[in-house]
Amino acid sequence: MKNTFVHLVGGSYRAVAPLIFLADSEPAHDFVLDMSEFMSKIPGVPALMRACLNVSHPSLKTTVAGIDFDNPIGLAAGFDHEGQMPRIVDGIGFGFQTVGTVTNGFYEGNPYPRIKRLTKSRTLLVNKGLKSTGMISVLGRLKGQVWHVPIGISIGRTNPMKEYTYSASNADIIEAFTKARDSGVPFSYFELNISCPNMLHEVSYYEPEPLGALLGLIRDLKLTKPLFIKMPISLTDEKTKALLDVIMQYPVAAIILGNLQVDRTLPMFDKEELAPYADKRGNWSGMPCQARSDDLVKLAYNHVKGKLSIVGCGGIFTAEDAYRKIRNGANLVQLVTATIFEGPQVPAEICAELPKLLKRDGFAHVADAVGVDAGK
Ligand SMILES: Cc1cc2nc3c(=O)[nH]c(=O)nc-3n(C[C@H](O)[C@H](O)[C@H](O)COP(=O)(O)O)c2cc1C
Repeated sequence: MKNTFVHLVGGSYRAVAPLIFLADSEPAHDFVLDMSEFMSKIPGVPALMRACLNVSHPSLKTTVAGIDFDNPIGLAAGFDHEGQMPRIVDGIGFGFQTVGTVTNGFYEGNPYPRIKRLTKSRTLLVNKGLKSTGMISVLGRLKGQVWHVPIGISIGRTNPMKEYTYSASNADIIEAFTKARDSGVPFSYFELNISCPNMLHEVSYYEPEPLGALLGLIRDLKLTKPLFIKMPISLTDEKTKALLDVIMQYPVAAIILGNLQVDRTLPMFDKEELAPYADKRGNWSGMPCQARSDDLVKLAYNHVKGKLSIVGCGGIFTAEDAYRKIRNGANLVQLVTATIFEGPQVPAEICAELPKLLKRDGFAHVADAVGVDAGK
């Protein structure tokens, strides 16, 4: 019955998607968020959605960084910057959600256009640049909400700052962490975003020394919730390993691989579709992230040898995509773009299919499949 409902929602969304895509991406996105928040406040609606679209299965339950997850499919940072969805996110089948990226200060976002859909290339051009109403405002929105799955808060540097130095950047990030730590909001993990490629001026944490200095300051905060780090996918294998070596020296629970794709020369771009955006600011989600993220999950799994958990993120559209990342070494996965191109039921579809893939290959639990292909 539940699977029929999931198919129905998926079929309907795919049928009307060409019409939805006539609307500009950012207003459409904002409308979905406002509607989600509105519906989540109507008594009975979150429970009804959960009853219809949350597909649970014992093989999908897993524990990562001391947190229990009903399923390993998460909503990645960037869909819900302001914390409008936590009450309802499990109602479309997600097992967890990252809110944000939230910054300490306010930023109205980079100049338009900030999100563009390239449907043939199955990617979004993203140029929001950490738009945020600021940590206090987001914590205020989260306060008093009740949710049913682990929620994390992604924290990054405020985009426009008076000075672009490491000391100013570190102080800004630490202030945001401190506010979240002391807020009393019952979120489950911190996510440090060191990898937004859309900043106005970069203060880069892609070198071991500044990253280590920042992680030292975060360690001094004595956080009682686990810390995840959202990594770039644009660095070489060697540079990625150098950052992992630093990260392993600090109390970090997990890494997320990873953020948006910077390279516009990849073969999965439809050249004609890409041409009008050749000189536009921004970076790419969805399919152009997939292969590099798959490879980096494997690289990280082999490099960290169990010292860090791994969250695979980038170009997950189907259960097979999620399963591949898990077999490469991901304990959990996250996605955004698939919900826009394929519909809000994508996590439910994945949760319906993934147990079949696990069973086919003789795994009783998703954790048993983690890393089985990492040596290949
Ligand atoms: C519209 C949009 C906004 C995003 N904003 C953020 C962000 O604020 N922080 C972040 O860590 N990642 C952000 N991302 C990146 C996603 O979290 C994710 O890493 C990337 O899109 C790859 O996953 P996907 O292919 O499933 O979309 C954003 C992505 C999109 C599509």
